[in-house]
Amino acid sequence: MEKMGLNELRKKFQEFYETKDHYARKSFSLVPDKDKSLLIINSGMAPLKPYFAGIETPPSKRMTTCQKCIRTGDIENVGITSRHGTFFEMLGSFSFGDYFKEQSIRWGWEFITQVLHMPEDRVWATIYEDDMEARDIWKNIIGMPEERIVPLGKDDNFWEIGTGPCGPCSEIYFDRGEEYGCDSEDCKPGCECDRYIEFWNHVFTQFNKEEDGTYSPLAHPNIDTGMGLERLACIMQGVDSIFDIDTIRTILDEVVRISGVSYHNGEASTDVSIRIITDHIRSVTFMVGDGILPSNEGRGYVLRRLLRRAARHGKLLGLEGPFLADLSNKVMESSGAAYPEIQEKREYIYRVISVEEEKFSTTIDQGNLILNDYINRAKKENKTCLSGEQAFKLYDTYGFPLELTQEIAAEENLTVDIDGFNQHMQHQKEMARAARKSETDAGWSDDSMLYANLPDTEFIGYTTLNAKVKVEGIFSEKASLDVLKEGESGRVVFDCSPFYAEGGGQASDKGMAENEKCQTKIAGVTKFKNIFLHKIEVTSGELHVGDMLDVSVQAENRNKTACNHTATHILQKVLKTILGDHVQQAGSNVTADGLRFDFTHFEAIPKDVLNQIEQAVNKKIIEFLPVVCKEMPIKEAEQLGAMALFGEKYGETVRVVSVGDYSIEFCGGTHVSNSGQIGAFKILSESGVASGVRRIEAITGTGLYMKLIEEEAIITSAAESLKANPSNLVSRIQSLNEELKNCKKELEQIKMQAMGSELDDMIASAKEINGVRLITKRFEDCDINDLRKLSDEIKEKEKGIVVLFATVNGNKVTFMVSVANDLLDRGYHAGNMIKKIAAAAGGGGGGKADMAQAGAKDPSKVEDAFALAETLL
Ligand code: ALA
Repeated sequence: MEKMGLNELRKKFQEFYETKDHYARKSFSLVPDKDKSLLIINSGMAPLKPYFAGIETPPSKRMTTCQKCIRTGDIENVGITSRHGTFFEMLGSFSFGDYFKEQSIRWGWEFITQVLHMPEDRVWATIYEDDMEARDIWKNIIGMPEERIVPLGKDDNFWEIGTGPCGPCSEIYFDRGEEYGCDSEDCKPGCECDRYIEFWNHVFTQFNKEEDGTYSPLAHPNIDTGMGLERLACIMQGVDSIFDIDTIRTILDEVVRISGVSYHNGEASTDVSIRIITDHIRSVTFMVGDGILPSNEGRGYVLRRLLRRAARHGKLLGLEGPFLADLSNKVMESSGAAYPEIQEKREYIYRVISVEEEKFSTTIDQGNLILNDYINRAKKENKTCLSGEQAFKLYDTYGFPLELTQEIAAEENLTVDIDGFNQHMQHQKEMARAARKSETDAGWSDDSMLYANLPDTEFIGYTTLNAKVKVEGIFSEKASLDVLKEGESGRVVFDCSPFYAEGGGQASDKGMAENEKCQTKIAGVTKFKNIFLHKIEVTSGELHVGDMLDVSVQAENRNKTACNHTATHILQKVLKTILGDHVQQAGSNVTADGLRFDFTHFEAIPKDVLNQIEQAVNKKIIEFLPVVCKEMPIKEAEQLGAMALFGEKYGETVRVVSVGDYSIEFCGGTHVSNSGQIGAFKILSESGVASGVRRIEAITGTGLYMKLIEEEAIITSAAESLKANPSNLVSRIQSLNEELKNCKKELEQIKMQAMGSELDDMIASAKEINGVRLITKRFEDCDINDLRKLSDEIKEKEKGIVVLFATVNGNKVTFMVSVANDLLDRGYHAGNMIKKIAAAAGGGGGGKADMAQAGAKDPSKVEDAFALAETLL
């Protein structure tokens, strides 16, 4: 057999199936499209499920792919063995109701023997024990000797996942030779030993598994084959381990190079670390390339786990500082030609990995110390388990994924109390939820009983702002009422309503309602299920259940909100275009006053990019794009590529809002009818709200106008107080600053001069006591540093002198004693003196022999303190 590189094998496979009229499609993203049952794509057929199930029409009845896959089910074995990896590529050939069993096996055989040139006698096949058709194809058509066709049971050779299309399969094995065998008489495919290696699975999806567990035949059976590319490369390159095949070995060699730890050096644990890093960096690079960002949930968590696990093993190898981002370049070198998306996003991938690595590196060392401490304590106390609280603390404060803690604990033969961990997690989530709830619906308690008898409110506000409605119910905080009197407030439910109820990130409408008997104000509307609760205040008259009312939505408020809402849609699209497809809406808040949009992105947006975003939104506004809101079946909306809120459940019919053909979004909100109505768009701030989530706050149209007026008023009043015009305000401030600087300089000079003459006066007025001259002086509001300078100057000029200064600032005094050098030998000590002096004015302090300072509380005692100094001398 000729050796072949992994990239070459991939190419050969796809070309082979292209000659058999298969449509060769590039790999689907690792992120499943619309398939909520799956976190990450884990086989070639996973993204094709809608074609197999007949929900969608495939582009061709025959397809071939090389699909990026990630499986983390075996993660604890990755690194320990040389065969497991989390990332792998799956070569696949598929028939959607076209050819079936015989053709699939024939072409499989042709590829194996004619393209790969595997020796025929080393190839084996397994079949499902009841599938005589498959056995006969292998035996009579391919000509494989019967002893190399191994029947196996349902566990091994029947492919099904839950309900839906499924069927028997035939797996193809390669015999690596006796030297790998277990010497058992019965050694053949299916044996636990390393001799027979399974590399290609042909699944014959010919049944549909029903809910009741029965199998009914499919009208058009399908073919789904999957071959692990790395497995095949092992066979074709004659190596035992996936880590020894060409494209992966280059990554491994780089880990060895940067860590300086050699591979296969007799130390099993460093080999494990080297393999873990090598495998995980592949998964990490491809995941980030497909727009997944590290987070604490779902796919993002899988990514975080892999990245942090790799980072920890880097530490174990002695790698100080981040290394994974650099290492991702190696993945691009070996796989970038086949997966151009990781090449194109090279810089982006580098930055995402760096940010996450940096983030973890600030806590990993501390977390390790704490975990070691927990482990030692548990051992000392003869415990076999770390508590849930400990694991949660490591997770919450030090960013240790639970699985990482478990793994490290297991290395020390300890387990972790998972239930306890989950309880802490649950508790934290409830606290967060409670905090959110009390923020949003203060005073509005959901009470199903209260509204049980009411019909759903029909929303008529997309097309009208005014209506005649019937009062179906009136409610106070906890009770149902018949009447609401003048001055009273409550909630009313109407049969139908033009008021938009708070929801989907949009604030509610407000307005009024009246009839001949009463006038009311409606301050806001919330929803309980499909019942609209109008927050009402009766300003005159009385309101009764059963009354008819003329209601009207305040148009200005509605219109301002609409401007902000449509602008939010444009902004989302602009963000995706400028920052990248990883941008997902994480929350939004649209009111009449402005908009707030939260989205997934991993770092602060630089000012120039922010400007670019702002300009792009304004450009779309002035393009006068028509805004169209339309209801349609969800399928149709998906075909249009409408942006949906991630993880949101939608019904059969959805409302789609499009701004020209620029932005198409699922949305139930109220919008302008042309983007030009928005007027203008201005970003006020950009900030981080959570790890990987950024927030943009902005205003539009009249909001921007109001802001302009406010700022104009500030500028005018600033100009007035500086006796300037707004137009020369800046130059006026500059010249004032200049003036101020000069004044300060001048003042400093004057101060120094004044001090100089004061200095002489002070020396002249010094009191002679026991052969020492004492200078005392009280200052007001002086800087103690200036006084210190002054005393230094005195000491430079004169010998045998003690200086005692006090400066009074408000009701505080600061004393300073300074002793000339020649007196130090004679035992005079500033620190000792100041203690007593400050005490005389209700203070304390100390210091060195030549200079000391102290604070005191009683300015009226300064003279007493000076007198005390005399007696001290
Ligand atoms: N879907 C089949 C597998 O993953 C081919 O083995």
